[in-house]
Amino acid sequence: MQQVEKKQRENWGSRFGFIMAAAGSAVGLGNIWRFPYLTGMNGGGAFIVIYLGCILFVGLSIMLAEFTVGRKTGLATVGAYKSQNRNWTFAGALGVLSGFFIMGFYPVVGGWSLAYVFKSVTGLLAAPEAIGDTFVAFIGAPVEPLVWMVIYLAVNIFIVAKGVAGGIEAAGKVLMPTLFVLLIFIIFRSVSLPGASAGLNFLFKPDWSVVTGQTFLAALGQAFFSLSLGMGCMITYGSYLNKKENLPSNALTVVSMDTAVALMAGLAIFPALFAFGLEPTQGPGLVFVVVPQIFAHMGGGIGMLFSVIFFVALTVAALTSSVSLLEVVVAYLIDEKGVARRTATYVASAVMCVMCILSSLSMGVMSGFTVLGVGFFDFFDILTDKIFLAIGGMLLAIFAGWFMDKEELKAEVTNNGEVSFGLFEAWYAMIKYVIPVLIAIVAYSGITAIEQKSLMIFGLLVIVVSAIFSKKL
Ligand code: PHE
Repeated sequence: MQQVEKKQRENWGSRFGFIMAAAGSAVGLGNIWRFPYLTGMNGGGAFIVIYLGCILFVGLSIMLAEFTVGRKTGLATVGAYKSQNRNWTFAGALGVLSGFFIMGFYPVVGGWSLAYVFKSVTGLLAAPEAIGDTFVAFIGAPVEPLVWMVIYLAVNIFIVAKGVAGGIEAAGKVLMPTLFVLLIFIIFRSVSLPGASAGLNFLFKPDWSVVTGQTFLAALGQAFFSLSLGMGCMITYGSYLNKKENLPSNALTVVSMDTAVALMAGLAIFPALFAFGLEPTQGPGLVFVVVPQIFAHMGGGIGMLFSVIFFVALTVAALTSSVSLLEVVVAYLIDEKGVARRTATYVASAVMCVMCILSSLSMGVMSGFTVLGVGFFDFFDILTDKIFLAIGGMLLAIFAGWFMDKEELKAEVTNNGEVSFGLFEAWYAMIKYVIPVLIAIVAYSGITAIEQKSLMIFGLLVIVVSAIFSKKL
């Protein structure tokens, strides 16, 4: 069966198509919504330096490892592990579970972004001082954000149920460069505001006194989240990759694009934030409060137009990511469980929709209701980003380093010797020894708050249970 699948595996139409799909999955809310607010909450420059270290020393190697395992096996995440070693099926299952949980809050934020496309033209920009309060009132409302979330999720369902991800990728090809150009424009506006230099200092003058074990874990988790790693997404994408493609250079391209967008988002937001006298530590509202203010200060129709384009581009960037998340879950149900594509999509997203409702309400009416000490939104967020993705990445590194044949890996990475990859030994040592130890240390020293400890224990329990049941998967 797997042999047959392997032969029939489709390939990406072109190198550009693959890069855009993988970068489309990577570049999303993680870069533009999450990265700036985490930077703000974790002290600015020091966080960025640590984040870049995580990208360079962990993210890049894991990206290459995921591409390699995917292309070598020609299978999506669960199948990829299972085909090599049945005892490792659980690691693939954990990835599917991560995708599921991320989809328990991602569409909520996608819905916010979609809502802001419309809010941009219905008076949001008219009163710049009120933009912060409007955001807090909006996300805490009982009905409105749910409506936007459902619309956003419905678009995902439509795309994945029809198997027409090609359409969204085509939109991404236009809108991702648009986002890029728009970010450059916003950066220029932002840094030219009076008082912007405080923001640049915040970004470029690291204050090491604020760094703790938690900063490292936040940076590592963000690296995994932003690069779509640690859950098999890039294994799945790699499985469609042509045997002639140069894996190391593809990994480098995707990682560089993702990192560039995150840094640009930081540069766009912080100078303006300081110029407007806002708090960098305010959390998830950052992009929704600062960017509209920049446009509001431009005034008139032009500010409005730019705001609409920005949020359309952000929504599409989010869609190319969430579609890949939903696809991981759906592909598992199709490939391993024999469920029809439509059924798989509807069933998976019905559950995701319930999780998203809980997440959204936890910002308002249900804010007093907690699971293991945190609201639903934070529960899904912390569980995936601080626990599951890092452990997923660690498992992949251990798997590739200790349970796959080194020579076979080398043959795959170098296309049987056709591609020269001088760093092979260094990369291999990274995934085999350094990364597993590094992740363990960071996780251990970063999980300090009591809620995080209980979440960690909960997460580990889930992993053990899935390991026990994985023989049935
Ligand atoms: N990388 C995406 C983002 O930054 C989120 C994502 C995580 C997508 C994991 C797929 C897998 O928005």
